[in-house]
Amino acid sequence: MDLQLKDHAAIVFGGGGGIGCHIARVLGAEGARVAIADRDEAAACREAERIGGGAFGMACDLSDRSQVRAAVDRTVERFGRLQICVQSVGLTLANYLPDISDRDVDITFSVNMRGSLWVAQAAVEPMRQGGYGRLVFIGSGSGMKGSAGLSVYSASKFFIRGLAQAVGLEVGPAGVTCNVVCPSDVYPEGDAPAQTWQDPTLVRISCEKEGVADLDELRRKRIAKNPLRRACTVQDVASLTAFLCSPLAGFINAQTIGLNGGGLPT
Ligand SMILES: NC(=O)c1ccc[n+]([C@@H]2O[C@H](COP(=O)([O-])OP(=O)(O)OC[C@H]3O[C@@H](n4cnc5c(N)ncnc54)[C@H](O)[C@@H]3O)[C@@H](O)[C@H]2O)c1
Repeated sequence: MDLQLKDHAAIVFGGGGGIGCHIARVLGAEGARVAIADRDEAAACREAERIGGGAFGMACDLSDRSQVRAAVDRTVERFGRLQICVQSVGLTLANYLPDISDRDVDITFSVNMRGSLWVAQAAVEPMRQGGYGRLVFIGSGSGMKGSAGLSVYSASKFFIRGLAQAVGLEVGPAGVTCNVVCPSDVYPEGDAPAQTWQDPTLVRISCEKEGVADLDELRRKRIAKNPLRRACTVQDVASLTAFLCSPLAGFINAQTIGLNGGGLPT
C-alpha cells in the first residue's frame, strides 16, 4: 500500500536510535523528507545519512523547550513546512516506591512529560499554518495499565495519552491529528536495538516480577503469555506509526492504540 508520504516533511524526536530510528527509516523509505532530533547528535546525523533523500540530523535535548522549538524551526526552514512529527523519546526509569528519588521523578517528568508537551507546542504551529498535520507520540503498554516497579514511568506515559487526546481535540479543526502508539516490550534486536533494555534496574525488576533469572528468560516467558506468542518488534511500531503519519489515517484522531498482540503488561 502506498502511504502517500512522498515529499512530506517530517521530524522524529529520538530518531537517533532504538524505535525512533526505525520509524525515521520507514518514513524515509516511504518518500518523506526526514529531520532527526536527538540528544545524541552523532547518532542523529548517522541515521540521517543512512536515510538519505535530504534527511538531516541535529542535537536536541527534549527537556529543553528552546531546543525543541529550535529543532522544529530548523526543520521548517530546511523543508519549507512540517506535516509529520513523531515523539519517540522516553526514559524508562524502573524502581520500587520506597527507592524513588526526587532525581528519578525530575528527569523522567522533564523528558517524558514536559518534553512531549514542548514537542506538541512547537510542532502544531507550522502544521496549523499548513492546514494539515500528523503528530504521533510513542507511549507504552505501561501507559495503558500501570506496571509494578514502574510507577514514575507509567504515570508519565498515562500523561502522554491525556496530552495527545487534548491536543487532538484542540488542533483537529485545523486539520491536525494527534495520536499515541503504546507498544508492549520491544526487546533488543537488529542494528539499532532499543536501548531501554540495557538498564540493569529495569531488567532486574522485570525479572523479579516474572520470577525469572535474566532477560532471555523474561522474553521467553512474556512471549509464551502473549496471545500471539511473540513480542512487539521495532518494525511493528514503525509500520503503525508510519500509517498514522499518512493521509490515509485522516479520521484517526485523539486515540491511543495498543500495540501488544492482545496482551497487557504485568
Ligand atoms: N523498548 C521498549 O521495550 C519499549 C516498550 C514500550 C514503549 N517504549 C517507548 O518507546 C520509545 C523509544 O524507546 P527505545 O527503547 O527505542 O529507547 P532508546 O533509549 O533506545 O532510544 C531513545 C532515543 O532517544 C534519545 N534520547 C534520550 N534522551 C533524550 C533527550 N533528553 N532528548 C532527546 N533525545 C533523547 C536517545 O539518544 C535515543 O536515540 C520510548 O518513549 C519508550 O518509552 C519502549
